[in-house]
Amino acid sequence: MSGMDEFVRDLPKTELHVHIEGTLEPGMMFGLGERNGFDLPFESVDGVAEAYDFTNLQSFLDIYYQGAAVLQTPGDFYELMAAYLERADADGVRHAEIFFDPQTHTARGIPFEVFMQGFREAIADARSRSGVTADLILCFLRHLSGEDAVATLIAAEPHLDGVIAVGLDSSEVGNPPEPFSEAFQMARELGLKAVAHAGEEGPPEYVVGALDALGVERIDHGVRSLEDSQLVERLRRDQIPLTLCPLSSLALKIVERVEDHVIKEMMDLGLLVSVNSDDPSYFGGYVLDNYSAVTSAFGLSSVNLADLARNSITSSFLDAERKRELAAEVDAVLSGYEG
Ligand code: ADE
Ligand code: ZN
Repeated sequence: MSGMDEFVRDLPKTELHVHIEGTLEPGMMFGLGERNGFDLPFESVDGVAEAYDFTNLQSFLDIYYQGAAVLQTPGDFYELMAAYLERADADGVRHAEIFFDPQTHTARGIPFEVFMQGFREAIADARSRSGVTADLILCFLRHLSGEDAVATLIAAEPHLDGVIAVGLDSSEVGNPPEPFSEAFQMARELGLKAVAHAGEEGPPEYVVGALDALGVERIDHGVRSLEDSQLVERLRRDQIPLTLCPLSSLALKIVERVEDHVIKEMMDLGLLVSVNSDDPSYFGGYVLDNYSAVTSAFGLSSVNLADLARNSITSSFLDAERKRELAAEVDAVLSGYEG
């Protein structure tokens, strides 16, 4: 590990954009498939990884939903969450806000009780083992209807312990945010916060729609926001967090090279951007790998990297006191760094 990578690992960070179903490693997918008598359309663990050659978001989602089908029991969801949190802790993540896609599981006859039990127990065990904390973000699938989202939230209501927010994900282009305004309003009335994927492949209008029609406090990706100068000014003025995922944008051909990613331009514009992994087992890297990729591509300094770690803390839903503690630790790690 390079000196700079060790420095980034030592910086306290949050991860705010990671889909738990996107942390399913090929080896675990195969193991769970065999254990549950589930036939995967792949010959071997290597065959799974070879199928990960994406042309756009949809080409990834087709494989991602297929992979998630091996998850059946509370123990399977526990194993998945425990593995992610162990890896996050090794990368210096102190707190994670983790997406899950309930409709992907309920549509297969797996009820909320099953996955929520596995998630919750793994989160509690990781916390007592390493101190890493995690909250959950319930995502609605935008390729399904607004009515489905409302029905999902009603079904979720008895199971919201540990859930901090709702989100919106899946196929973006052609699925604007507005049909989900009722579900998001209900969620806010339940005391949940709100975030949404927007401007990943879709136009900047979807970012504006997520802010105005859904009332979100954070935008996931938002890379196409730069096409609308008024929107950029609003994001800058209101310091609306954008959770960027550089290796995801590379894998999904949003950009051809990491050097073409908008992260540095956004940092220079004074936008509140953070570095995250999205679907690390599919896109070739966990959070530290994402920091490493942008560090090499843009020659980021230790001050830039400390800013990104601080942004991840500011952008989280942690309370003010924990934010202050973690930010003070960032300052201490930075001042102790000689490189
Ligand atoms: N679900 C999992 N990963 C996603 C992404 N990058 N965009 C939209 N939906 C997703
Ligand atoms: Zn995502």
